[in-house]
Amino acid sequence: MSNVIVIGSQWGDEGKGKIVDWLSNKADAVVRFQGGHNAGHTLVVNNKVYKLSLLPSGIVRGKKSYIGNGVVLDLWALANEIKSIEKKGILINSDLLSISETATLILPYHKELDTAREHKLQGVKIGTTGRGIGPAYEDRVGRRAIRLCDIFDKQVLKNKIENALFHHNPIRKGLGIEEINSQTIIKQLNEISSYIKPYVKNIWKDLLNLQESNKNILFEGAQGVLLDIDHGTYPFVTSSNTISSQANIGSGLGKISNHYTLGITKAYLTRVGEGPFPTEQDNEIGEKLGIIGNEFGTVTGRKRRCGWLDLVLLKQSADLSGINGLALTKLDVLDSFEKIYVCIAYKYNGKTYDYLPPTLGINDKIEKEYIEIDGWSQNTRGSKNFNDLPKNAKKYINILRELTGIEISLLSTSPEREDTILFKNPFI
Ligand code: IMP
Repeated sequence: MSNVIVIGSQWGDEGKGKIVDWLSNKADAVVRFQGGHNAGHTLVVNNKVYKLSLLPSGIVRGKKSYIGNGVVLDLWALANEIKSIEKKGILINSDLLSISETATLILPYHKELDTAREHKLQGVKIGTTGRGIGPAYEDRVGRRAIRLCDIFDKQVLKNKIENALFHHNPIRKGLGIEEINSQTIIKQLNEISSYIKPYVKNIWKDLLNLQESNKNILFEGAQGVLLDIDHGTYPFVTSSNTISSQANIGSGLGKISNHYTLGITKAYLTRVGEGPFPTEQDNEIGEKLGIIGNEFGTVTGRKRRCGWLDLVLLKQSADLSGINGLALTKLDVLDSFEKIYVCIAYKYNGKTYDYLPPTLGINDKIEKEYIEIDGWSQNTRGSKNFNDLPKNAKKYINILRELTGIEISLLSTSPEREDTILFKNPFI
């Protein structure tokens, strides 16, 4: 038995969907443990494209799928996603899908608050996905969240909604948004509760049982380490912990035995939304990376900012998350670049940094030290064997291994599941 925790090592959009799908073959169960429908995991299975936001990716392969307590859940988005997956021939039932009874709900007023804040004229703009993620997590730590278990008891729900609105209505008034009547929200929740009920369970006990019966569990992270609320490029982050230790907290499995943490890493770097990005190429190189890599957000369709791979940040993510190995994705996007650059250190005021100081995140303040690597000007897309790769592509991969000191477990050479080169199977 072994467990794998998959996390993004960058600012999200590293191609986790495909890797989780690839690994789910060996898994008995797949668990989401943070984030919500701000995530967008794309899977290509038998030429069918599946875009998942809330459902664990293993569901497409019929693996037991769990949504943990660490996830913030928009029930209407979930219902739509279930229906759209069912239209593609995947039958979802309560044997397949389980949702933690203590997951926090995203309600319509969270989404409205998220959008209103992003559209205000003053203050910091984060560039959120507008899904209500931040306001829902705020309610959780503020102890006024509605959790999934609350919606099945009419009196409990009424009391909790009134308590939440006691907080939200004055804020809405201040932002010029109409105040809400508790009955409106209660009615909406009553309408959806019977649809959701079969899936609602105590999942931490299920996961413990699975582990004790030697089953392999795959923990599917969303977003990336650099968007972590504590360790990311704050305040330009998401509102959950995205590092691997959140797998315990967000699933309730206190001890994840015998596990391997796999950091998904794109061969270059992107970010969507505001915030520091030291190796950003706001020029024709960034444009080219974006076009070849099709760098548009799965969830919001926004154009992603693009730049060179940053080993300072990669090493930082690996250390913060206890990454054991990397899955390198989208190498083929670099196929036509004559020269490729990799950042290996930062300098500021004559001092060299091997991490991004939290106060020095502004791109133009930091001097970046790059190494230049010759490109390979050959197609690598669809390669299935490391030895078949062009010499300089192999060199690029070996340089990443040497400079980070982290093993590369997998190399993905196209969105297709079969186009994957395995160096080390994370399920030991
Ligand atoms: P929020 O998670 O919607 O609050 O957005 C906060 C920041 O995280 C914004 O910069 C988003 O663009 C970014 N973000 C959230 N989810 C994802 C994701 O799945 N991929 C990439 N960026 C994300």
